[in-house]
Amino acid sequence: MSGHSTPKPITAHRSGPLRGTAEVPGDKSISHRSLILGAMAVGETRIHGLLEGQDVLDTARAMQAFGAEVVQHAPGSWSVHGVGVGGFREPAQVIDCGNSGTGVRLIMGAMATSPITVTFTGDASLCKRPMGRVTDPLSLFGMQAHGRKGGRLPMTVIGAADPVPVRYAVPVPSAQVKSAVLLAGLNAPGETVVIEAEPTRDHSERMLVGFGADLQVERTAQGNVITLKGQPELRPQEVSVPRDPSSAAFPTCAALIVEGSEVFVPGVSQNLTRNGLYITLVEMGADITFENPREEGGEPVADLRVKASSLTGIEVPPERAASMIDEYPVLAVVAAYAEGRTVMRGVKELRVKESDRIEAMARGLEACGVRIEEDEDTLIVHGTGGRVPGGATVAVHLDHRIAMSFLVLGMAAQKPVTVDDGDAILTSFPIFGALMTSLGADIRAAE
Ligand code: S3P
Repeated sequence: MSGHSTPKPITAHRSGPLRGTAEVPGDKSISHRSLILGAMAVGETRIHGLLEGQDVLDTARAMQAFGAEVVQHAPGSWSVHGVGVGGFREPAQVIDCGNSGTGVRLIMGAMATSPITVTFTGDASLCKRPMGRVTDPLSLFGMQAHGRKGGRLPMTVIGAADPVPVRYAVPVPSAQVKSAVLLAGLNAPGETVVIEAEPTRDHSERMLVGFGADLQVERTAQGNVITLKGQPELRPQEVSVPRDPSSAAFPTCAALIVEGSEVFVPGVSQNLTRNGLYITLVEMGADITFENPREEGGEPVADLRVKASSLTGIEVPPERAASMIDEYPVLAVVAAYAEGRTVMRGVKELRVKESDRIEAMARGLEACGVRIEEDEDTLIVHGTGGRVPGGATVAVHLDHRIAMSFLVLGMAAQKPVTVDDGDAILTSFPIFGALMTSLGADIRAAE
């Protein structure tokens, strides 16, 4: 839901060593998609391991407003009684997606080809984010959108009464845009085709096939060509949500920089569209072993054993960006402890996340005594070789990943680091504080 009460600053003190097992919650991307696809299937989808973060709870509430029955049976265990493709009813109230870009963009796609009118809003962060990247392709189906200047929320969307299928080349690497178009294509007749030059996370494609849609992916010189046959009857599924590799990044990176640490992080996705951070950390010299590779919930996963390591800065290949887009903030933290420069190019998408993440990381790292360089599309961190001064309060800008990144930084810094708004973390990783504390981190409400 939009906004939250008075910000609660949290301080990370020099900690450790970190020891134990870090069982992180369910994947956020897969959790949103389970609820939305469950709502578009005919019958009851059961979901195990759903992330119960604020973002996903907002999507659950939205699916109820569209007519699906969404019930929590036990922590992490949910059912969705779907209304079928084309079965959404017009919500009686405004759909508030809180902080979630994934929530609003995917839901907009899912309703774009139904003859209903929906008003979307979100918190101060979401209301700043560009929606044109989804309303442009969705209007090709016949949908209309009336938002604030610059295509911002709040926005009223009128779904297409007679949708036509669409062929769309996604101009920015974005799984949200790709997914919005595919979800809209579900209720359009004929074939909807999405072309993405750079591969992005492929959970929508995998899950659409799982729910019984006719979807083909062809790998061509132009990139992935995804073809979806419209108006299928989606079959309800039993979904096991694997753990979130983007959340696993925080205990993993904390263990690398806090002296003497050894942490076990089970069930981390090795999906090639999500594992860029882990490849990068190994290239920097991280002592991570990947044990027991297997499939969980349709995703390749492994258990990670992570030991504190001496790291060296590297140049991250720009073509890897899409597979680690949410992990650059915490990589910048690890880079601050490494020896030498870490160069992150081709990352301008970070400017339109929950906050401008290049700006937020740059200002926060500088305040903590770390030298950085930045331009529109680049962040360079000059490593300190293990001695980050810290001793600052960092602005989080309603961004969970900025908050968690600087708390990780503070766990190994010379002086404590405070983030001005710890509640931002509730959107994706509500047990972050408890989990990190159980490993030996010293993080607490600021004095
Ligand atoms: C997501 C896609 C990515 C990512 C976000 C989740 C998704 O956003 O940053 O956290 O679930 O599709 P973009 O599509 O804007 O790259």
